[in-house]
Amino acid sequence: MNEYVRITEVAPRDGLQNESIAVPTRTKCELIRRLEATGVDEVEVTSFVSPKWVPQLADAAELVAMLADAKPESVVYSVLVPNEKGLERVLAVNDDTRVIDKVSVFTAASESFARKNINASVDESIDRFRPVVDLARQAGLLVRGYISCAFVCPFEGPIEPGAVTRVAARLLALGVDEIDIADTIGGATPETVERLVSCMHDRLGPCRETDIGEPCLTLHLHDTRGTAVECVRKALELGVRSFDSSAAGLGGCPFASTGGGRAPGNIATDVLVRTIMDAGFKTGVDLSRLKEATGVAQALLAGESIS
Ligand code: HMG
Ligand code: MG
Repeated sequence: MNEYVRITEVAPRDGLQNESIAVPTRTKCELIRRLEATGVDEVEVTSFVSPKWVPQLADAAELVAMLADAKPESVVYSVLVPNEKGLERVLAVNDDTRVIDKVSVFTAASESFARKNINASVDESIDRFRPVVDLARQAGLLVRGYISCAFVCPFEGPIEPGAVTRVAARLLALGVDEIDIADTIGGATPETVERLVSCMHDRLGPCRETDIGEPCLTLHLHDTRGTAVECVRKALELGVRSFDSSAAGLGGCPFASTGGGRAPGNIATDVLVRTIMDAGFKTGVDLSRLKEATGVAQALLAGESIS
């Protein structure tokens, strides 16, 4: 039987954080409904970050309250959380009904990017996450730990696999359930994916499963130079069974832009699903529903009404 590969749809977070158009909360909710109906395993719905830093997602609490009306059992909702304040906001919206299942802390393998993105050194970020991870786990939430610039940093250039692995080991020691290695600016190649995943396997053990039987290593690829598909193929060969992607290839970190250049979008979900299927694996995604959801994401970007 074909082995299952898990997919996290990140368009509502990674996509919408980087758009200059103001998207109404109800429209975000409608997009998420379409995305969850595709059969993806997880939707990263928003971020509980400082609204001064990312005004596009300032409506996070309002959006989650709206989503609470009809949260499907079958999908995991996750959000980004940079600090204790973010987690307190998540616990407040989760108070009556549990809507958010997973929180994601995020740091980097590069000091320069960590400073630009979260105004902290890597060490400071790990210290900041300690109470966040403890409290989240006490509240029964899963925790993902993102490591940005796992291959290339827009400010420092190529990143050594050892640096990423050291950050991963520290996040795992804090108690995160899952490590997400992120190619923030789309600089990975199959060779660098192999070097990094092999280094992580050698030093941290092979891709194991979390307590709830899900893969604990995820790959988050932005696709600048069209190498993301080859990177997915290589990662599948190496045992990676969890990927992030974005409908219509939306996405990009506003703090990864250099020289006026816009950060690139994530690998598109339809491209990811086809790559996984072509490699002989299966996903939960229905391609015709994904086509509809992709159309909705594209219309939204074009400023059209989608509800
Ligand atoms: P700071 O300015 O150093 O922190 O930001 P601060 O503690 O001085 O807070 C500044 C203001 O924000 C204060 O408000 C805080 O209360 C408020 P004021 O007192 O001035 O009125 N604040 C908050 N408000 C709501 N929720 C919060 C929160 N925290 C502080 N959680 C901070 C530090 C980490 C907060 C800031 O840098 C931040 O929010 N950064 C997030 C940046 C971000 O979201 N980047 C994009 C996501 S990461 C990404 O895209 C990469 C990824 O896709 C993987 C990849 O591709 O690489 C995941
Ligand atoms: Mg990203």
